[in-house]
Amino acid sequence: MDTRPFRSVLYIPGSKERALEKATSLAADAIIFDLEDAVALEEKARARVLLAETLQSLDYGARAKLVRINALSTDWGMADLDVIGSAAPEAILLPKVDEASQIEALARLLDARAETANTRIWAMMESPLGVLNAAAIARAPRMAGFIMGTNDLAKDMGCRFRPDRLPLLAALQLPLIAAKAAGIVAVDGVYNAFKDEDGLRAECEQGRDMGFDGKTLIHPAQLAIANEVFSPSAAEIDLAQRQIEAFDAATARGEGVAVVDGKIVENLHIVTAKQILAKAQAIADMTE
Ligand code: COA
Ligand code: MG
Repeated sequence: MDTRPFRSVLYIPGSKERALEKATSLAADAIIFDLEDAVALEEKARARVLLAETLQSLDYGARAKLVRINALSTDWGMADLDVIGSAAPEAILLPKVDEASQIEALARLLDARAETANTRIWAMMESPLGVLNAAAIARAPRMAGFIMGTNDLAKDMGCRFRPDRLPLLAALQLPLIAAKAAGIVAVDGVYNAFKDEDGLRAECEQGRDMGFDGKTLIHPAQLAIANEVFSPSAAEIDLAQRQIEAFDAATARGEGVAVVDGKIVENLHIVTAKQILAKAQAIADMTE
């Protein structure tokens, strides 16, 4: 069971030195170093070199490090991969993924050089076609996770932003189901109004309840809320411990079912309870 936390996944434009430095001490579980849409066209070349140097010189500790390159079909994608590849990146995040063949092509390029022998691939889920092909994409070589690109999705769907995200629900859930089926991570999209704490909290809670591992973020002010919402609460940890104790006691009596707080506890609930405790432990290990 992979319990690495992805509660808070912070985008940092690869061109912003100050933000790149600041992130070494920010409470993010993962960082997306962006060379794509957060970097202006005239900054693309400088950003990729700055980022390759930064990844080799700064220590981001236990935080997962994803580099979002430009699509390989653009003028910048291959050069991004070439320069970033030399820095042995932990993971490449590929944008605008419509079909599994794009992942297979990237995997072949990573196979071809020694520095990227262990580099994993993440895919942006941000187009209607990508969403429809999510099951095959999730199973492609080196795949480790999906990042929901909700701004691009809303644009291509022609749907409106609503606090309940009802117009986007199916487009969120199809990749989520595909990720679960393939055993990879799934991280929810960004909340654009980065000063609206109540709105962010509500959207984090919705994503958490759906089953996402965490939320992508655009500003450090969003970190604390995402970390809190996607962590098991004290009440959940307490319940998980009591379920495990009650189930062990029932098993010792030769019974297959226990009752806790008026609800039955079966083996499948114990699987969830143990996952909650393992996640809480992984978070504690990360932040110690
Ligand atoms: N990661 C790390 N640090 C960040 C940051 C980020 N995403 N966004 C801002 N900061 C830092 C700033 O460098 C600044 O640091 P300082 O006080 O040490 O100088 C501090 O946080 C406060 O920043 P603030 O002035 O509030 O923000 P801003 O007005 O400079 O920038 C944004 C606002 C939205 C432009 C900026 O947060 C940003 O570029 N976010 C990422 C956008 C992105 O990557 N989009 C692509 C995916 S949707
Ligand atoms: Mg996008």
